[in-house]
This record gives sequence, C-alpha cells and structure tokens, in this order.
Amino acid sequence: VGPDVIDIRKLYGQTGMFTYDPGFLSTASCESAITYIDGDKGQLLYRGYPIEQLAVNCDFMETSYLLLNGELPNEKQKADFNHQVTYHTMVNEQMQFFLRGFRRDAHPMAIMTGLVGAMAAFYHDSTDITNPEHRHISAIRLLAKMPTLVAMTYKYSQGQPFIYPQNDLSYTGNFLRMMFATPCEDYKVNDVVERALDRIFILHADHEQNASTSTVRLCGSSGTNPFAAIAAGVACLWGPAHGGANEACLNMLEQIQANGGIAKVGEFMEQVKDKESGVRLMGFGHRVYKNYDPRAKLMQETCKEVLTALGLENDPLFKLAMELERIALEDPYFVERKLYPNVDFYSGIVQRAIGIPTSLFTAIFALARTVGWVAQWNEMISDPAYKIGRPRQLFTGEIARDVVEISKR
Ligand code: ACO
Repeated sequence: VGPDVIDIRKLYGQTGMFTYDPGFLSTASCESAITYIDGDKGQLLYRGYPIEQLAVNCDFMETSYLLLNGELPNEKQKADFNHQVTYHTMVNEQMQFFLRGFRRDAHPMAIMTGLVGAMAAFYHDSTDITNPEHRHISAIRLLAKMPTLVAMTYKYSQGQPFIYPQNDLSYTGNFLRMMFATPCEDYKVNDVVERALDRIFILHADHEQNASTSTVRLCGSSGTNPFAAIAAGVACLWGPAHGGANEACLNMLEQIQANGGIAKVGEFMEQVKDKESGVRLMGFGHRVYKNYDPRAKLMQETCKEVLTALGLENDPLFKLAMELERIALEDPYFVERKLYPNVDFYSGIVQRAIGIPTSLFTAIFALARTVGWVAQWNEMISDPAYKIGRPRQLFTGEIARDVVEISKR
C-alpha cells in the first residue's frame, strides 16, 4: 500500500466491505506470494519465475521445492529434497484394503477423493496443524504418495498387481514405472515421455486461487488436517469446468473424429456458437486468461515432441485440435470473447500418446496440483492472522413467518 493508495482494510475495518460477487469475478479471497497471473498478457509466474523458463530449465522436484519454499534449490538442497520425497513414496499396506472396497470400474477421481482423505487416518501428527514440522512432513507425504495412489488406482482398474515404488528413479520415472511395469515384465522409462510428463506436472503445479485451490483454503481454514483439505481440492478439481476439462476435451475430440473428423469441424463449431446447444469447445476459455494461456503453448510443443518421438506424427486428434484452434483464433465469436486454448486443450493428446487412459487424466492433474494446494494451504496456516473462511450471502428467501399446524397447511 503506497501513500496514494487507500488501504481498504483500514477503511472498512476488520470485517471488510460487504460485496455481492457471484463466482468471485472481482473479489480477492486472500493475500498470496506464490503464483502470479497476468491474464491480459498471458503471463504465469511461480514465485516470480516465468513458467516458460521453469518448464525448460527445471524439473518437477525443483519446481515443487520452489513453490513450497519460495526459492529454487541449490544442488544440495535439491538432493536432500529428492531424498525426503523418495523416502515417503510407499503408502501404508492397509490402504490396499480400502482401495479394494471400490468397484473396479469406479471413476479414478471418486477413488482418489477417498484415498487422499483416508491418509489422515494413518498420520495422526497431521491433525496438529499448529506445528510447522508436522505441516512440513504432511506436505512431503502428500507430494510423495500421490503418484503411488494414482498408479495403484490405475492398476486396480486393470485387475493387475500393484507395482511398488523404485526409489532410484526420478519422481516422474518412478510414477511411469508404477503405472506400466508388471511383475512379468519391467518397464524401461522412455526419456522423452518422462520429460513430457514431468513438464505436464510443472505446468499444472499451481495456478493461484482457482476453484480447487480456493476449496483447499476454505476447507483448511477450519483448522482441519491437510489430507482432508486436499481431498476437498481433489473433489472440486473433478468438475468439467475445471480439472475435468482435459477428460472432457479428449472425449470431445474423439467424438468429432468418430463423426467425420476434420471435415466436420466447421459444423461442430457452429454448434458451439449456438448457445441453445449447450455445447462448449472444451479446453478453451479461462476466467483469468484473456490471451493465450502460456501453458497451452508449452503443451502444444510438448505434444509435437512426444508424438514425433513415439512415431505418431500423424495423430488424427492432434491434427483435429490444431484445426479447431486455427478456426477459433479467426472466428469473431472466440475473438470477441477472448477465448483461447487453455492448458487442457493439448494435455489429453500427450497423455493418450503415453498410454494413460482418459479417465485418469484428472487424477494426474490432481497429482501435479497437490504441491500447489499444499503450498497455498501452508501459506494460509502460517499466517497468524488467518481466519476461518465464511462467505456471506444475499438472502432471497422468505423472511420470518409462523409455522401453521400440519392439518391446516
Ligand atoms: N466454448 C464456447 N463458448 C465459451 C467457452 C467455450 N469453451 N468458454 C466461454 N464461452 C463463452 C460463454 O458462453 C460466454 O458467452 P456470452 O458472453 O455470450 O454469454 C462467454 O464466453 C464467457 O464465458 P463464461 O462461462 O461466463 O466465462 P467464465 O470465466 O465463467 O468461465 C470457463 C471460464 C469455465 C473456463 C469457460 O471458459 C469454460 O467452460 N471452458 C470450457 C471448459 C474448460 O476448458 N475448462 C478448463 C479451464 S482451465 C482449468 O481449470 C485447468
């Protein structure tokens, strides 16, 4: 607050101003020093570092360290952090029994919501959120165990045995092995695939006060344990307007492909522009970005790299996505509304090429976003002045009336 700027906190006292702002279009819910987005410029910074530089120069472990601690690690700090995370990759064997209670065809996000919340049952120290050491170990446990839980969820859906973590591999390499190795055949991690998935993790790691992060903060503001708060974030992420968009986007591309492919793109776009149809171009548009989502640019590059490395250059869904984007960027409907591809537009194509089933896409997003959720939760709890989140309402119901005896209603 500079000399010419009014400090609204002083002006309106502790309770602030009473505003009605459905969807939080112009209401800040907290102060945060973690992630900055300039939606008009299409800029995304983690702790001040441009996402483009992090995606090219750093791996997911360095990015996680940055989000949690505020600075990039030096070599020793990185090695220590890797070691700490690696040490915690196993989950309690009891978790298997909980997982086995689900139907094998359950949606992975339904299972993940349960598994993440259930972890609080194993780590009683996590309920003491006032102790920074307990908060730290909970953060490490969540970061370390999410890949194991996602891979277990996948193996369970396939009826295959679980593959235990192999801790001499990288964070992402270990996840790929837990997903795709079997007891009969080991899995050789492909460098291009590993790097691509690691980049997906970096691009999804945090995104300031989006719906799921705000959910984590609101849930955590009651003082509940971090596993419960992150489980709430996982549940929120599932929705198709948020993290579920990657799954919805790939389903949309497959449907267009099945109904005639590129030749039918124009027809599909007419449907999207017809408000009565209720059809949206999934993977397009964003509440904050009114310019190209910088993550989508990086994801498009990654998509090309992976498809080339796997000999899938002519992937029809990638061609379809490029054509949809080309048409949208020239169409007044999209131009006037400033609708551009978001991170989900190309991420599904990469994941599909790697062999990840569509229904698991949002769980992968949750895996990557966990570090951001935890960093935001910890930032909130570390502030001695934080309060329980308690939105107000604009009441539109009946005001004070008397109950009429049931026989006279
Ligand atoms: N396709 C067609 N029209 C769209 C789309 C789209 N994908 N997105 C927005 N619009 C239109 C709306 O119909 C509306 O038009 P109008 O002004 O004529 O009524 C206008 O653009 C503004 O849209 P809103 O829904 O008001 O914008 P909001 O900021 O509330 O929503 C959202 C943002 C939810 C991301 C929206 O763009 C959307 O539904 N996109 C598709 C789903 C998606 O890709 N979600 C992922 C977001 S990124 C993430 O969570 C990781």
